[in-house]
Parts: sequence; structure tokens; C-alpha cells
Amino acid sequence: MKPKDEVLFHTITKKLRDDEKIKRMNEYMQHGRVSTFEHVERVARTAFRIDKFFHFKSKEKELLRGAYLHDYFLYDWHHHDGPLHGPYHPKAALKNALKDFKDLTEREKNIIESHMWPLNITRIPRCREAVIVCVADKIVSIKETLFMRR
Ligand SMILES: [Fe+2]
Ligand SMILES: [Fe+2]
Repeated sequence: MKPKDEVLFHTITKKLRDDEKIKRMNEYMQHGRVSTFEHVERVARTAFRIDKFFHFKSKEKELLRGAYLHDYFLYDWHHHDGPLHGPYHPKAALKNALKDFKDLTEREKNIIESHMWPLNITRIPRCREAVIVCVADKIVSIKETLFMRR
């Protein structure tokens, strides 16, 4: 990443990384031994890189906030007796995010609700930011599942 992009990434994500509510994702494991917090950080970085590499010109603040909140479901899905985690969790993440962050934009909402597309066939990414996070999440999830079990 170019130094100026690195600086921009840090400036935008600082507030997100330091947010006590967002930090709660440290308490839940995502893939292998990776916490949900580490996972969303990785997805944010990957999404930002994709955007810069292909010059997609996303709204960076919304792209990164959506990436940080895309898995804000706040439960341990390994011990979750409810609806199936895969298709259900974007809904849970959106519900929590709406409760804790009153100023969510339409783009950010779409990023969260559509990130499991095409598993959730009706929740479609409708902006470039949502498409990028959807792709970044898949790349990062495959890496974490296969190579980061520790
Ligand atoms: Fe997810
Ligand atoms: Fe994810």
C-alpha cells in the first residue's frame, strides 16, 4: 500500500479500533483461533487494499466502518443454539449495529446485511463498498479457516 494510503487507513480506522463497543468483538472467536475483532480488522485492510489497487474510488469511511461492523453479531457462533449462523448472522450484526451506532449510512447498512451474498440470495450488495467487503470477507475467511487454525 502507498504510504499516503497507509496513513489514510490508520486515520480512519483509529476511531473504530479504539471504540469500546467494537472492541467487544475480541471476546468472540471467528475462525480457528482468530477473534471476530482480528477478523474484521483483516477484512477492513483487505477491502481497503482492493479498493486502492483497482481504483474503485469507494467512500473510504463507509467502506471501513461497514467492514468493521459486518460481523458485529456479538455471540459465540460455536455455541449458538438458534437459527443457522451462516445465513442468520448478518441480520444479527445489523440489528446490533443499528442499536449501537445511530448514524449508520445506507451504504454501511448494505455492507453488513449483504456480506454473505450469495448464501443470502435476497440480500444483494447494492454499492461498490458492499461488493468489495463481500469479496474481502471471503478471501480473509478462507485464509483464516485453512491457515490460521494454530
Ligand atoms: Fe460474516
Ligand atoms: Fe466476516
